[in-house]
Amino acid sequence: MDRLPGFRDFFPDPVPHPDLGRMEERNHIFNTWRQVTRRYGFKEYDGPPLETLDLYKAKSGDEIVHQLYHFTDKGNREVAMRPEMTPTLARMIAAHQRGYKKPMKWFSIPQLFRYERQQKGRLREHFQLNADIIGESDHSADAELIALLIDVLRALGMTHEDFVIRLSSRDAWQAFFKERCHDEAKAYEFYQAVDKLERETPEASTEKLSKIGISYEEVMQFIQAAEPTGDLQAILDQMKARGLDEYIKIDYGVIRGLAYYTGVVFEAFDRKGEFRAIAGGGRYDHLIKLISGGKVDQPSLGFGMGVVLADMLRDKGLFPKATPAVDLYFQISDESLREESITLIQKLRDMGIAVEWPLVQAGGNKQFKAALELGAGHVALLTEAGTVELKNLATRENEQLSADAFLERFRA
Ligand code: HAM
Repeated sequence: MDRLPGFRDFFPDPVPHPDLGRMEERNHIFNTWRQVTRRYGFKEYDGPPLETLDLYKAKSGDEIVHQLYHFTDKGNREVAMRPEMTPTLARMIAAHQRGYKKPMKWFSIPQLFRYERQQKGRLREHFQLNADIIGESDHSADAELIALLIDVLRALGMTHEDFVIRLSSRDAWQAFFKERCHDEAKAYEFYQAVDKLERETPEASTEKLSKIGISYEEVMQFIQAAEPTGDLQAILDQMKARGLDEYIKIDYGVIRGLAYYTGVVFEAFDRKGEFRAIAGGGRYDHLIKLISGGKVDQPSLGFGMGVVLADMLRDKGLFPKATPAVDLYFQISDESLREESITLIQKLRDMGIAVEWPLVQAGGNKQFKAALELGAGHVALLTEAGTVELKNLATRENEQLSADAFLERFRA
């Protein structure tokens, strides 16, 4: 039986085929996400992967609603697999924000589901780092979040030659739109047309825009001028103070597809333009109000970072080599010493040492080979005299230790 298209399995090393998911890579990314968000004072949260369909309808926008995995459950509820985390976060904040000091800095690593056309960088299931700041309208929060995004990518080994943050503003686009079109109902359609500019032909974009009464040329001129708004300039200044300004540029070609964004928006891209967006986010100052039915109003902003990141790291050879599976391999060459050996193995594991050993009788060579394959740092062997032969596999040094001295060595 095959897995569903657009879904992945993750295998431990050695991964049977290069097209299959590698658990080591996923863990490397998740660990880095957790380390860097911690540096910025973010706290981890999670929510359910299944939500009411209503949570996404009219809040995320048509594009994502069309991609929903949804069904009626046995209790006749209309439910959907979460396609993004932001509505869940907004729901959680709307219900329980009172107990938290503002601004709240929260992160999560949810698995998300979107019925998308499967292509490079687009799957039907993916994991995303979500980092959000709730309860701060000052642009210093935007700069803080963008600095976090840059530092996550730097911690994974990327430099300003590899990626750039394209910074934009829905407010700037809204002002542009209002000057040219007085039908506010068409605003989202306009944002969608701008969002698709880079993925569609000029002819297709011209046709979409002209239906709204806006010309393709004036849109392109506005993008090329790249004149920063006051908000964007303030963010640029803060990025300069952090020494991170070379990672960022004003680019109104970015507007974001999701409906709920309000002010500053941004996306991270590889410099060569070979991949789709590595991450995207921005302000969504009205979403919590909408989801709470007007009861809670908190300015908010955040970003999501997905699997394009893994494709890029693989492409640039930035994934670390396999980490050793065990610290020590405990050989058993004399079966009469099996039980005493097990006693020592248990003591080592109680001390937090990762130990592998032969579950059944096996030849000495086979055991030594297994130790090498596992990347063990040491091989140990209990002798009839009650001493332990310890071999350091890196230096090839051998030692004879009493059982107590052997355990003491690993306790240290
Ligand atoms: P998004 O732009 O839909 O935003 O997704 C963010 C990132 O997730 C994208 O830049 C891309 O790297 C990755 N991604 C999205 N869809 C897929 C897919 N089908 N397969 C693989 N990767 C994908 C959001 O989801 C917002 N909720 C982010 C956010 C958080 N805004 C504020 N807070």
